[in-house]
Amino acid sequence: MKKIIIAIDGYSSSGKSTLAKAISEKLKYKHIDSGALYRSIALFAIQKKIFNSDLWNVHNFIPLLEKINLKFKWNKKYGQTNIFLNEENIQSKIRTEKIGKKVSLLAQIPEIRKILTVMQRNIGKNKGIVVDGRDIGNYVFPKSEIKIFMKGSIEIRSYRRYQDLKKRGEKVSYEEVKKNLIHRDIMDVSRNISPLKKSVDSVEIDNTSMTIEEQLNLIFQLINKKTK
Ligand code: C5P
Repeated sequence: MKKIIIAIDGYSSSGKSTLAKAISEKLKYKHIDSGALYRSIALFAIQKKIFNSDLWNVHNFIPLLEKINLKFKWNKKYGQTNIFLNEENIQSKIRTEKIGKKVSLLAQIPEIRKILTVMQRNIGKNKGIVVDGRDIGNYVFPKSEIKIFMKGSIEIRSYRRYQDLKKRGEKVSYEEVKKNLIHRDIMDVSRNISPLKKSVDSVEIDNTSMTIEEQLNLIFQLINKKTK
């Protein structure tokens, strides 16, 4: 079967990673959760106490990134790809609201986007990947054979994210989660560099009232056409 690149972009908590993971398992493709890369940088910035001063300075932070070692590794026990920062598995540490509140701020910085774009292109150079994020179809892999754009009502996305955080034991309210999602959506669509934007050649999926099976059926119809 011909190897392709599948780009899944869309709003926060629109189910991109869930779909990407299911597709990559079926096709035995690599899955790049690009949000995890941006979240890892946010975790690193918090660890380095970058936000402790109102005068936080990007120029002091960027050189620190030269030394970080960020890698995806397969976790056999849980049957999923985990992200490692300097050899530490940070998969669950990056999913917190604390990270959610800082990540979009850092994602606006051109130097950070450049480093993470190069990293993603390296992982994907032999194709056979599913990548989810905000700028994949438009910028990171503009020649992706399949481009999906995901959306869903703010209420359903907030509810999904709220349930997810509750399962992880975080004490957050639905209203707080919704507020953060709205804030991240605004920052992601309005930033100057690589904003979240539906590309003309993408297929839109609004999964407000669709099951995962229905979404996968739709995507596999596209995949079957492209991999023949
Ligand atoms: O996908 P996830 O919600 O984990 O992404 C967290 C944040 O990382 C997004 O809100 C966005 O600000 C940033 N991001 C990005 N470009 C990507 C992936 C994520 O700017 N390709």
